[in-house]
Amino acid sequence: IKKITIAIDGFSSTGKSTIAKLIAKKYNYIYVDTGAMYRAVTLFAKQNNFVGKDFLEKDKLISKLKNVSLSFKFNEELGFAEMFLNDKNIEREIRSLEVSQLVSKVATISEVRKKLVAEQQNMGENSGIVMDGRDIGTVVFPNAELKLFMTASADKRATRRYKELIDRGDNVSFKDILFNVEERDRIDSTRKDSPLLKAEDAIEIDNSDMGIKEQFERICTLIDRKL
Ligand code: C5P
Repeated sequence: IKKITIAIDGFSSTGKSTIAKLIAKKYNYIYVDTGAMYRAVTLFAKQNNFVGKDFLEKDKLISKLKNVSLSFKFNEELGFAEMFLNDKNIEREIRSLEVSQLVSKVATISEVRKKLVAEQQNMGENSGIVMDGRDIGTVVFPNAELKLFMTASADKRATRRYKELIDRGDNVSFKDILFNVEERDRIDSTRKDSPLLKAEDAIEIDNSDMGIKEQFERICTLIDRKL
């Protein structure tokens, strides 16, 4: 059977990874969460004091990038791959609000992007991959057979993210989450290198008022047309 490359981009917390995981499972594709990779580099920068609320030691981080080794390991129980930084499982840590508040700053650095994009392109060398992020359809796989661009109102997105963090026991406020979602969109959309934008040939899906099942069915129809 024919296998394709599926690129999913869009704003923060639009449910890209939820849909991508379902697609990967149904079609037996590899799923790569590129946001996790930027989050992992951010955690590394935070651990080394290269980034904080009011500072970014860009050059120091760049000079240590060679010490950043990223890998995904599939967790059978969870049914998806978890992010490892230098062989340590960091899946939980990278989802914190603290990392979310620093990641877009780190993601503006071209050297960071260059390293991660190269790794992403390697992972997608063979088709049968679904990758989500901000620049997948525009930079990483400009020739992807199917490109999706997900949007939803900021309020809906913040509500989803808030619920996720509360459910796992984090002490966060809705106000902070909403601010973070909007702030990341702003930084991601206005950065010089690979800004978040809808690829010309991407199909936009606004899921503000759409359930997961409805979105999934719609996307499967789009995929099946390409096979
Ligand atoms: O997808 P997620 O929300 O986990 O991504 C976290 C951040 O990583 C984004 O807000 C963005 O700053 C950065 N990112 C990026 N390019 C990607 C994926 C994520 O710049 N392909």
